[in-house]
Amino acid sequence: QVAAASGHTVVLVDQSDEILKKSSKGIEESLKRVTKKKFADKPEAGAEFMEKTLKNLTTSTDAVAVVHSTDLVIEAIVENQEIKNELFKRLDKFAPEHTIFASNTSSLQITQLANSTTRQDRFGGLHFFNPVPMMKLVEVIKTPMTSQKTFESLVDFSKALGKSPVSCKDTPGFIVNRLLVPYMMEAVRLFERGDASKEDIDVAMKLGAGYPMGPFELLDYVGLDTSKYIIDGWHSLEPNNPLFAPSPLLDKLVEEKKLGKKTGEGFYKY
Ligand code: 3HC
Repeated sequence: QVAAASGHTVVLVDQSDEILKKSSKGIEESLKRVTKKKFADKPEAGAEFMEKTLKNLTTSTDAVAVVHSTDLVIEAIVENQEIKNELFKRLDKFAPEHTIFASNTSSLQITQLANSTTRQDRFGGLHFFNPVPMMKLVEVIKTPMTSQKTFESLVDFSKALGKSPVSCKDTPGFIVNRLLVPYMMEAVRLFERGDASKEDIDVAMKLGAGYPMGPFELLDYVGLDTSKYIIDGWHSLEPNNPLFAPSPLLDKLVEEKKLGKKTGEGFYKY
């Protein structure tokens, strides 16, 4: 959405037409909110912006067919190393020489993903934040193999999207999640111990620390499955780090398919 709105030609690829239909609907709704704000007193210019943006955006279920004519691939699939590696390995065979590959992974090592391809110098991390149309930040991750030219292209692309890029080495969680995920897990542990209610913890962090959402609202917003993938991955890397300890409550909710806002229930009901 953000790439299309800033004049890039985008092909959104997913597994089925059904998913793509849902995504397109979500994009249209989000775009309407952005347009309403951006063109508050210029409805005609707003309609033109919407039309232009949607024209820049097509969908496909065939990643291999699409990658033939792509300058940049941004992968944002399930947070699973093997599945991501498999996808990158396949795309690497069909993408043009110059094409840059980037992953939006929240927690996996970019280096390991890059190693599933033959283009380690044209591979980096581009990490966006929910909701992407609103959040100004992009973390640009350079591995020891990412070329300076690739890194600069990713920084330039982030700026062309109207975002503010920051750079970070390929370390677990980069900057934001390395601080945010342990904070959210500490909130869950505080609640699990019965020290405070989740409602009070959320109110406390909003009114006492100025956060726009409390940690439980944010966990539900990000998705409890995504949060669990992140913490489980880090726990397996550093089993003795108490900040990365799994939470029985989070595990239970995910087991019950209560994944947050997207499924209608997580810590809260929607
Ligand atoms: N698309 C377009 N516009 C949106 C939007 C979306 N998906 N969601 C919200 N907005 C816009 C609304 O239109 C509204 O515009 P307005 O001010 O002109 O009315 C504005 O944002 C504010 O929205 P709301 O009034 O509905 O609600 P809030 O004031 O609470 O703002 C929020 C919503 C921007 C989501 C704010 O609550 C927020 O910043 N929350 C924290 C988000 C955060 O921490 N994100 C990072 C998560 S971590 C992550 O993503 C990393 C990953 O790896 C896990």
